[in-house]
Parts: sequence; C-alpha cells; structure tokens
Amino acid sequence: MADKKEGRYKRIFVQLKDLLNGKDDMLSRMATFNAVLYHKMDGFFWVGFYLLKENKLLVGPYQGPLACIELPANKGVCWAGINRRQTVVVPDVHEFPGHIACDSRSKSEIVIPVRDSNKDIIGVLDIDSHFKNNFDHIDIEQLERLVILLSE
Ligand code: SME
Repeated sequence: MADKKEGRYKRIFVQLKDLLNGKDDMLSRMATFNAVLYHKMDGFFWVGFYLLKENKLLVGPYQGPLACIELPANKGVCWAGINRRQTVVVPDVHEFPGHIACDSRSKSEIVIPVRDSNKDIIGVLDIDSHFKNNFDHIDIEQLERLVILLSE
C-alpha cells in the first residue's frame, strides 16, 4: 500500500517536471499541479493553494468543492503552515484548535509552505481528505519534493 503510494508520487514527479518545464507563469503552474494531484491520488478531496497577498491568505487555483476565499488571519491549518514555516499534518481536523472547515466532509489535512525562487514563502499547498489519518511520512516527503518543482 505504502509502496504503491510512493510509486505513484514518483511518477507524478516525473510527469509534473516535464509539464512545468519552461512554463513561467506561477498560476498556470499551480493549476496544472493541482489537476495532476487531484486526479491521480486516492483520497484527495480538495487540492489547492492559499496565497499570501498583503498579509491576507487568499484562495488560489484549486480542484475540488467550493472553498473559503479568504482565511481569517493566524487561525487554522493554512496559517499554521505559514507561521511555523513548515509542513503541518492534521490527522483529524476536529482535533485541531481553530481549524477552518470550508467543507464538513474534510476529515484530515496537510499543508505545505510554498516558496518562490528567492525562498520567500508565497503561500501554502493545502490538501484535504475525506478520510481521517490520510497523510503519513510518505505524503510529507513526496509532497515537499513536489512543491519545490513550482519554484524551480
Ligand atoms: N482547513 C483550512 C482552510 C482551507 S480548506 O481546508 C480548503 C484551514 O484550517 O486553514
């Protein structure tokens, strides 16, 4: 099971590297990134980006059900990823104080900071699952590797 997931991530890495090669526009890169992950990974209910703009965290490209447009400052999982400057895994969203429920079907979540080519944080990749405990060390390692592709 774990091997299957890791293998799938590795194939996605090769595919995305090729798709993004020579494509400069960040919104187009993010939209493509979401489409591949959302349709190829099992259990991903929502895949998208929240982007920092004048100290606000606003929704960017995403795939999945309708989500909140703006996240209240310094609250919830996405802001935790920004403020801690590291990946945040939430095995059960009901256990995370301040979690923002854009859709009640979301049960677990992973948030990974996204950096530009200067290494400044520009937002987060946010993935929600309709299963509890959907994200483990393989998701952390592989998604952190994939996110770097965006800023290359
Ligand atoms: N749950 C997130 C909000 C975004 S949605 O999951 C798409 C949070 O607590 O920041």
